[in-house]
Amino acid sequence: MPTILVTGALGQIGSELVPALRARHGADSVIATDLKALAPGNATDGGPYGHLDCTEVQQVHEAVRRYDVDVIYHLAALLSASAEAAPQLAWSVNMSGLYNVLEVAREYRCKVFFPSSIGAFGPGTPRDATPQVTIQRPNTIYGVTKVSGELLCDYYAHRFGVDTRGLRLPGLVSYVAAPGGGTTDYAVEMFIHAVRYARYSCFLASDTRLDMMYMPDAVAAMMDLMEADEARLHHRNAYNITAMSITPAELADAIRQHIPGFIVDYDVDPVRQAIADSWPRSLDDSAARQDWNWSPRFDLKAMTSDMIERLKDRLAAARSR
Ligand code: NAD
Ligand code: SER
Repeated sequence: MPTILVTGALGQIGSELVPALRARHGADSVIATDLKALAPGNATDGGPYGHLDCTEVQQVHEAVRRYDVDVIYHLAALLSASAEAAPQLAWSVNMSGLYNVLEVAREYRCKVFFPSSIGAFGPGTPRDATPQVTIQRPNTIYGVTKVSGELLCDYYAHRFGVDTRGLRLPGLVSYVAAPGGGTTDYAVEMFIHAVRYARYSCFLASDTRLDMMYMPDAVAAMMDLMEADEARLHHRNAYNITAMSITPAELADAIRQHIPGFIVDYDVDPVRQAIADSWPRSLDDSAARQDWNWSPRFDLKAMTSDMIERLKDRLAAARSR
């Protein structure tokens, strides 16, 4: 069994990736780490947990040495809107953090997963069926760190033989942990507000089309990519993947199939709208499908039914406590 270290493990992705990795590899084989303290009952409880600031190379080094780590899922980062509000901090966490992880991985021969994003594209990129290989000139600090991260991971693979692999993830929809300051967060907020209040005020315009994915598909993609035959990987850092390309209005309509009186109004936030307008409307994920058999299970209809059912269950459980 490999020993796996997850950085930024208490975030939206880590809260579902860590339990999935533990189910596959055993609880003690997966070391969850984050800046934050682990609260009792947290989704990542149930196995080793430690404080780790990825901007402190000694802390990364010590965790990898102490646990004899084989694989690192490096999730710690600032997301697009948080990064735009604090560009200097975003550079430090997203770039210095990744550099530290890669340096330690080089020394200890660890395999590394790096989550890139649709944010790695920019206004000059073809926005429909965005190709795997295309123009990447993002105009956000988040995007700059994601393209740089893709290049740095490729460099460590070619120059030092570090087995780095990455995905350009779309906006992720989930119910376990709240999203951490992204532009696609509207989708999660819309579900939560629909179930709680049957009303939502959306910060993106109704026709803003972006790629999205339900978290179980994203978690499966990360694990599948890391287990794929290296010889078949033509791109490494990083593969386009997507499950649906939707607008807020389309998501609201899908929710209305379950909550008919759901009301949405639009109060556009210019900062997040500008970020969304610089991103692809839909990705071409054929390279991932071809190289490692990527295929999502959840479309908009299936994701909507599952999200609403899970959120209603959680709300009922919270009310009965
Ligand atoms: P998140 O914001 O929910 O979680 C990030 C975690 O990193 C937080 O728990 C935070 O405490 C931690 N963190 C922040 N600074 C740190 C530091 N210096 N050292 C260690 N931990 C630190 O983010 P997420 O949604 O789980 O995303 C994880 C990764 O996936 C990020 O790289 C993000 O860019 C990428 N990604 C996410 C999405 C999405 O929709 N969630 C889409 C594309 C890419
Ligand atoms: N969901 C992420 C964000 O909006 C995309 O990387 O920042």
